[in-house]
Amino acid sequence: MGVTPSEEPVPPRPRSKAQGPVPHPPLGVRIRAGTVADSTAAARLHAEGITTGFLPLLGTRFLRRLYRRIVCEPGSFLIVAERDDGTVAGFIAGSEDTRALYRSFLRHDGIVAAAPVAGRLLRHWRRVAETLAHGSSGGGAPGRGAELLAVAVDPPGHGQGIGGSLVTAFLDEITRRGVTDAYVVVGEDNPAAVALYRGAGFHTADRFELHLGTASLLMQWVPGS
Ligand SMILES: CC(C)(COP(=O)(O)OP(=O)(O)OC[C@H]1O[C@@H](n2cnc3c(N)ncnc32)[C@H](O)[C@@H]1OP(=O)(O)O)[C@@H](O)C(=O)NCCC(=O)NCCS
Repeated sequence: MGVTPSEEPVPPRPRSKAQGPVPHPPLGVRIRAGTVADSTAAARLHAEGITTGFLPLLGTRFLRRLYRRIVCEPGSFLIVAERDDGTVAGFIAGSEDTRALYRSFLRHDGIVAAAPVAGRLLRHWRRVAETLAHGSSGGGAPGRGAELLAVAVDPPGHGQGIGGSLVTAFLDEITRRGVTDAYVVVGEDNPAAVALYRGAGFHTADRFELHLGTASLLMQWVPGS
């Protein structure tokens, strides 16, 4: 699926037998490119569903700015799962260059985004410092290719294939962009996400402590793996 207009047709992404059939969203849910208007829903789903890292601690206004930047940056993208009634059931975000994305966020949104949450940034300085010092890959091996930044589905939508469809759309999008590898950093204590990524063909490449006392996995995807 090309989620943004493409000039060149891209051959379908190779899929190994071990990965099983390509997941489809359930009836009444469609996968589409995210827009600036979707950054509010993405921020809410992130704040409610993802508890690791320091981003959720900074609140939905900060997250909304971040997702707006992800939509606007040419090297990054947002994809959403939308129900027939227009509600956003889930999202996935990715970036070909996460460092460039954060640099751009700091340049364009830094002061405005950080000022209202300065107190919270100070209170959680350790988690912020750990993430900024090491990047998503912590002190471990760096990931190769595009980064899967975040995925979340609202609780009523869990277990219906929406998360799997979003990961498929993410992989199709990076393939369309000519990127051959992808990675994700996930908490080892998040079995649903680890199983979701494993089912899509990601495998564990490294294990490290991004945040003190919490094990994270670097999971790497290569075409046809
Ligand atoms: C992880 C998450 C996105 C999965 O979304 P989902 O729509 O429920 O996933 P799907 O229904 O497409 O399931 C796809 C696969 O994921 C795995 N999976 C999903 N939920 C699972 C669970 N609770 N336990 C174990 N495996 C699970 C399974 O392998 C499943 O494949 P199967 O149905 O063939 O067994 C969802 O649980 C979520 O939003 N969690 C909170 C946010 C989060 O932790 N995000 C990841 C960190 S960024």
